[in-house]
Amino acid sequence: MKDDNRNIVSLRGVNKTYRINEHVSVGVKDINFDARPGELVLLLGPSGSGKTTLLTLIAGLLKPSEGSISLFQKPIESYSVADLQSLRADRIGFIFQTFLLIDALTSSQNIELVVKFNQKSKKEARRIAETLLKELNIEYLADKLPATMSQGEKQRVAVARAVANNAELILADEPTASLDTENGSIIIELLSSFARDNKCVIVASHDLRLKKFADRIVFLDNGRIVE
Ligand SMILES: Nc1ncnc2c1ncn2[C@@H]1O[C@H](COP(=O)(O)OP(=O)(O)OP(=O)(O)O)[C@@H](O)[C@H]1O
Ligand SMILES: [Mg+2]
Repeated sequence: MKDDNRNIVSLRGVNKTYRINEHVSVGVKDINFDARPGELVLLLGPSGSGKTTLLTLIAGLLKPSEGSISLFQKPIESYSVADLQSLRADRIGFIFQTFLLIDALTSSQNIELVVKFNQKSKKEARRIAETLLKELNIEYLADKLPATMSQGEKQRVAVARAVANNAELILADEPTASLDTENGSIIIELLSSFARDNKCVIVASHDLRLKKFADRIVFLDNGRIVE
């Protein structure tokens, strides 16, 4: 693995262990991983193989137990908590496996919120939300609350929200898990268009249908990259 100045994500010798009382479990182990703008990297692995752990480490939401991580070419420990929060608001889009939509807000408001964080006007935020909802075939959800939507509908709103801030780094955790083939394809094609647009897209999944959209596939098993 060679260091490349185009990498915006770089992990060296990263381990993450979870400790709950006496119980220790391995999240990821001995991870060396890089990603750069313009590529869609697919992290494939069975349940429990460490995919969510790896994405969460990359987003700076978890600290590694050992090893080093750099993000946008700076060591992650050089960012303060506030710096990491603003990175996640401005430069990183995260599609959570559990969606994490805000229950009290409609689909459109969930999306508009991240745009407004970026100091865009209300009108601009609404326009971006409308465009994304349309692109994902879910215009009809604009004024609905998450509690009234199906899993697949929530998943698509979560995707729209994650890409609404025009992030340079998009981290997607099982973005097609609740979707049929057609809607799954719409999502992965959208994510892949972001990679073509020179963004860095990292997708974790066990959905083998996604393989053909990947520029690079990294296999995880038991917390390790097995290639
Ligand atoms: N908060 C936690 N506390 C303790 N152990 C955890 C925690 N999160 C994950 N683990 C453990 O770390 C390992 C990797 O989990 P992770 O969630 O990263 O896997 P995954 O590949 O995303 O699985 P899935 O496909 O089911 O989402 C598992 O053995 C899991 O039990
Ligand atoms: Mg997971």
